[in-house]
Amino acid sequence: MTTAIDQSHAILSGPAASNTAGSAARNTARDWDAGLARRTRALGGGEITAILALAGSSDVITFSGGFPDPATFPAEVLADIAARLITEDPGVALQYSATEGIASVRDYVSGRLASVEGSPPGPGELMITSGGIDCMELIAKSYLDAGDAVVVEAPTYLGAIMAFRGYEADVRGVPVDGDGLRTDVLADLLAAGLRPKILYTIPDFQNPTGLTMSAPRRSELIGLARRYGFLIVEDVAYRDLYFENPPPRSLWSIAPDVVLQAGTFSKIFCPGVRLGWAAGPAEIISRLVVAKQNSDQCSGALGQRMLEEYGRGGYLERQLIASRALYARRAALMAQTLTAHMPEGTTWTTPTGGFYIWVTAPDGVDTVALSAAARAQQVAYVPGRPFYPGDDGGAQIRLAYSRVADELIDEGIRRIGAVLRTALEEE
Ligand SMILES: Cc1ncc(COP(=O)(O)O)c(C=O)c1O
Repeated sequence: MTTAIDQSHAILSGPAASNTAGSAARNTARDWDAGLARRTRALGGGEITAILALAGSSDVITFSGGFPDPATFPAEVLADIAARLITEDPGVALQYSATEGIASVRDYVSGRLASVEGSPPGPGELMITSGGIDCMELIAKSYLDAGDAVVVEAPTYLGAIMAFRGYEADVRGVPVDGDGLRTDVLADLLAAGLRPKILYTIPDFQNPTGLTMSAPRRSELIGLARRYGFLIVEDVAYRDLYFENPPPRSLWSIAPDVVLQAGTFSKIFCPGVRLGWAAGPAEIISRLVVAKQNSDQCSGALGQRMLEEYGRGGYLERQLIASRALYARRAALMAQTLTAHMPEGTTWTTPTGGFYIWVTAPDGVDTVALSAAARAQQVAYVPGRPFYPGDDGGAQIRLAYSRVADELIDEGIRRIGAVLRTALEEE
């Protein structure tokens, strides 16, 4: 019931009054979807929205998002650094930056690459991006015409599939096994005439499988790129997060002539700053810089300088040691609880780094349909299907252990096991 007070308030306050007018207008709203660009229509994208929507929910044990654990966020040190930058260097930290990134920040990232990869990028071979996905968007925008073929691992990071499809690429999957991308299958496809412009791979502790590409496969892939003239986009989002031993040499460090490395600080620093890097042939980097000028123009200067100060202070490398131990412990807990609770016939990967375990349930299980049952049990995972460019993955699920508290892992996996078991009994 609307009272006199409500009415007078509505008359007096602008926003409320315009809300009323807004509702009337909404009832006669147009069908905006009818005007959607062709390249946007087939995109979907509900999966990532759903994952991010769960970010703040406390009543669900969520294995869904690839979120770093906030325990790894360097809040206190960063508060000091941010305060100092804002008071002492506002002209840089609060200003627009060069599109390719602040020079001192590029210098820091270049030095870090030299120490972890063996050699630094050459002149013009490095830029700062707004996270890993920014690089995929920029490369797609710069190099893909409608119908161009892009090869991805099947399964792969669904944000990358969306970025390539967003520019109407013909995205083709090549399967992975315990040694990573099946280069033999790729070689057959190339021999049969497939001519991709780009091959996108996550060689280290891959999203979603947790698997790593072996050194021989890396050499084979580089050989194929040189022979057939395609660009390898190497996404190293999880490369620094190994549990015991570092993964084999990066593709970019072996073959900077045919590889663009896309890195992100989201998983090893914090995603709140949205920062990453792209390292590759100078000609390509210069194109990406032009493409960035008409998207976000530059990555946020405050975040860039915070990262630089944090890194130069030695904090990032110390944080990495703690992060590796944390995620290794979670992965081990996951392995124990999966063994205890998964129904017979279910298999899963054993990652040696990163955030993910990839579970394959017996044939016939539909993990998309079951995600509602899982939600009813207050547990969340991402079903396998969206990670494939085609229709596979119906009986698979991705479990991210990175942000689930140790003490909730057993209960969460028990609930998922129960949901799968019920589905199998009902078959
Ligand atoms: C393989 C991979 N690349 C890139 C990203 C996105 O990174 P960012 O959040 O820095 O854009 C993710 C995030 O989950 C990822 O798993």
